[in-house]
Amino acid sequence: MRLMKESKGAKILINISLEENNYKHFLGFRKKFKRLLMIELLEKRHSVRSYESKPLSKELIDKIKSEVTFINSHEAGLNFQVVFSDGSPFSGFGRSYGMFRNVTNYIAAVIDPTFPNTEERAGYFAQQCVIELVKSGLGTCFVGGTFSRDNVNARVEVYEKIPFVVAFGYPEESKTTLMGKLTSKLAHRKNYKLSDFLTENQVSEEELRNCNIDLNLALRAVACAPSALNSKPVRLSTQILNGRPVIIAGVKDYAKNAVDLGIAKYNVANVLPGVWEWGNNEPFFID
Ligand SMILES: Cc1cc2nc3c(=O)[nH]c(=O)nc-3n(C[C@H](O)[C@H](O)[C@H](O)COP(=O)(O)O)c2cc1C
Repeated sequence: MRLMKESKGAKILINISLEENNYKHFLGFRKKFKRLLMIELLEKRHSVRSYESKPLSKELIDKIKSEVTFINSHEAGLNFQVVFSDGSPFSGFGRSYGMFRNVTNYIAAVIDPTFPNTEERAGYFAQQCVIELVKSGLGTCFVGGTFSRDNVNARVEVYEKIPFVVAFGYPEESKTTLMGKLTSKLAHRKNYKLSDFLTENQVSEEELRNCNIDLNLALRAVACAPSALNSKPVRLSTQILNGRPVIIAGVKDYAKNAVDLGIAKYNVANVLPGVWEWGNNEPFFID
């Protein structure tokens, strides 16, 4: 079997004929490597509240627009709108507070809450946008409270609402406002252990390993997920469902923390192969 030419590193292997078994091992290794790179990226992400004035390139603008269009066309009840060169929801809000500096781009998470699990799905797909933006070298921040909804430059029908926006742009870390630094410091004051994110584990380590479930990686993905007020409300548990081990994700108060749950679910789905069922205390089915 011949391998496709993909990167410099993979080139070395191109001309090596592999036995079927070795090939499977190689693919397994490659997937594992990708997941390790992804957890690094998820853990490196942090909220940015101060931005450079530098405008975004046309390629980047097109990329973000097409990402948002794709999400809207696949997810019922989500009507994300991306706004460039407009900072009014932030400058009009709490001028003296001064937590955000120079925000000019944002994604408005416009949702129609009559569809099921819209807040959770908005969190999931907004985090998908965030990770794409971070990959492109941009800084991001979910904003649920400290912005003016009236000044958001988006079409919002009477039956729709905006649970949050995601500010983004080139980070200007050196000029982060004092309030921004303080917020960030306060937000990160608590030291969590990974075990804090696991409420119950009904599946033995051996069973998890046999099913290729890296629980540690899933917990790391939850631990670094952004959440409102950094409350980190999402917890995982494992159980056997229909004879198969599954991971369950839940929050105590779904009405309050659905967005946070969606964000954490996105992180997990990025480091483990499988799909989530939407809703609180629903399973992740491992591929
Ligand atoms: C749904 C949601 C709403 C948020 N609202 C705000 C906000 O109003 N103002 C703010 O400064 N940060 C807000 N944040 C950012 C969190 O404070 C931040 O993600 C958390 O403190 C963790 O920090 P990190 O993102 O650097 O890991 C929000 C985050 C989420 C997920």
